[in-house]
Amino acid sequence: MIDYGLGGKVALVTGAGGGIGRAAALVFARSGAAVMVSDVNEAGCAETVGMIEAAGGKAAFQRCDVSQADQVKALVAATVSMLGGLDCAFNNAGINRVTDDQYDDEIWARDIGVNLTGVMMCMREESKVMLERGGGAIVNTASINGLVGNGAQPAYTAAKHGVVGLSRHGALRWAKAGIRVNAVCPGVIETPMTAPLTQNAEFRQVLDAMTPMGRMGAASEIAEAVVWLCSPAASFVTGHAMVVDGGATAT
Ligand SMILES: NC(=O)c1ccc[n+]([C@@H]2O[C@H](COP(=O)([O-])OP(=O)(O)OC[C@H]3O[C@@H](n4cnc5c(N)ncnc54)[C@H](O)[C@@H]3O)[C@@H](O)[C@H]2O)c1
Repeated sequence: MIDYGLGGKVALVTGAGGGIGRAAALVFARSGAAVMVSDVNEAGCAETVGMIEAAGGKAAFQRCDVSQADQVKALVAATVSMLGGLDCAFNNAGINRVTDDQYDDEIWARDIGVNLTGVMMCMREESKVMLERGGGAIVNTASINGLVGNGAQPAYTAAKHGVVGLSRHGALRWAKAGIRVNAVCPGVIETPMTAPLTQNAEFRQVLDAMTPMGRMGAASEIAEAVVWLCSPAASFVTGHAMVVDGGATAT
């Protein structure tokens, strides 16, 4: 188990009520950071906080719907007031809905609102605190659908491409101010998001076969990359879209 050297630091994780966000919150805490655990899933967050505290770490909780500007502002303010600052932010909350009509206006507005605008609003508020502190590190969750096309889901694909672009923008905007901004691009990962698909044994085999390594990834395999990107070990890494996909986009 690697300690990424974040003792004394404060990390904020959205979408931390389960899946990749929870896994990252646990690695941040294992590496010494105090963690603000946030999600719309309050029960999931309570479990994440309990897991961090049981392992001897420090965590706080604030509910936040990342598509709501006032809630994002309150989340960042609560992080500073409850944990003393903000050094690392993992903007990870997301939705991925499988529906027949992906060109539906409501689907488009909601998917872009959570998956892209939510990330922008988090970056906007987090950067204000980090600029005052003289630096920080932000990682945004994109997807391999942020790098290659997905014929089934226009809003998700557009949002995740947007997250990659937004991350590169932030990297350039704040490079001299000491704020690094990167994106992580997971492949097919076993989380509550993909659970409805993996429950069908036949479809599970299809999902496993989609990845050259022959299996889905684990949330912890994304979490290790995210916390490394936020750590001093990645001090010259910014504007990068890190693929963690078992080779899915290598072809
Ligand atoms: N699982 C995969 O295969 C995969 C692949 C590529 C990218 N991703 C991305 O990884 C991120 C995490 O997904 P996951 O796989 O851990 O799934 P997940 O469903 O377990 O986690 C997503 C979390 O975001 C929360 N959330 C949803 N809408 C929210 C909102 N408006 N405000 C705050 N929180 C909200 C959910 O409650 C949930 O806990 C997402 O951005 C997803 O798009 C996942």
